[in-house]
Amino acid sequence: MTPRSFLLTPELADYVRASTEAPDEVIADLIAETAAMAERGEAPGTMQIAAEQGALMQLLTTALGARTAIEIGTFTGFSALCIARGLPADGSLLCLDISEEWTAVGRRYWERAGVADRIELRLGPALETLRSLPAVETYDLAFVDADKTGYAAYVEELHPRLNPNGVVLLDNTLRDGRVLDPQDESDRALAELNAALAADPRWETALLPLADGLTLLRKR
Ligand SMILES: C[S@@+](CC[C@H](N)C(=O)[O-])C[C@H]1O[C@@H](n2cnc3c(N)ncnc32)[C@H](O)[C@@H]1O
Repeated sequence: MTPRSFLLTPELADYVRASTEAPDEVIADLIAETAAMAERGEAPGTMQIAAEQGALMQLLTTALGARTAIEIGTFTGFSALCIARGLPADGSLLCLDISEEWTAVGRRYWERAGVADRIELRLGPALETLRSLPAVETYDLAFVDADKTGYAAYVEELHPRLNPNGVVLLDNTLRDGRVLDPQDESDRALAELNAALAADPRWETALLPLADGLTLLRKR
């Protein structure tokens, strides 16, 4: 399989996957269905998070004891499935996306995995939905994986809605290495955000070189 991290050789990427909790049948089918959609030109091929990132996100959700979570950028539902599986049975995940077509795929897999009752999906521009939510401490965990130029605003809106010690995960923060030499608006947005977050006293920040870069922010 092609490595999702530009930092790994194909052999090391295989080794990382082989040394990580293996995807079960539901996840394997979701990855295969999303890949088939990409082959038919129905979805971009690189949108889904890497399998090893999914494993980490499920582990983190459980280890943090998260009960309430929010996701910005759901696509065909893989990251949401991992977060939902890490929540307790009475936990909740709010998913924000604009695509009815792609998220409909996710809904089927959430049903199949038995976690659909933990997930609420709201369709519409994420910033509008986020701003419509009460600005009170609500969430233990947030995952941001939508339009890259929107990340800075998402982080600002998430801050008051996150519980103290709450964690935000930001995807694609290395932009395949282009944060060092931004080539477009999305690269520039992430390079500027990475610098701003590292200097922001409201957050404890760690950028992991996993997949395409995963930043962890803890609300102080
Ligand atoms: C990279 S994909 C998310 C992948 C997903 N986390 C997964 O694991 O499969 C980005 C998603 O963000 C959504 N998106 C893009 N711009 C958005 C916006 N302004 N508001 C809400 N969703 C948006 C797209 O429809 C797409 O489904």
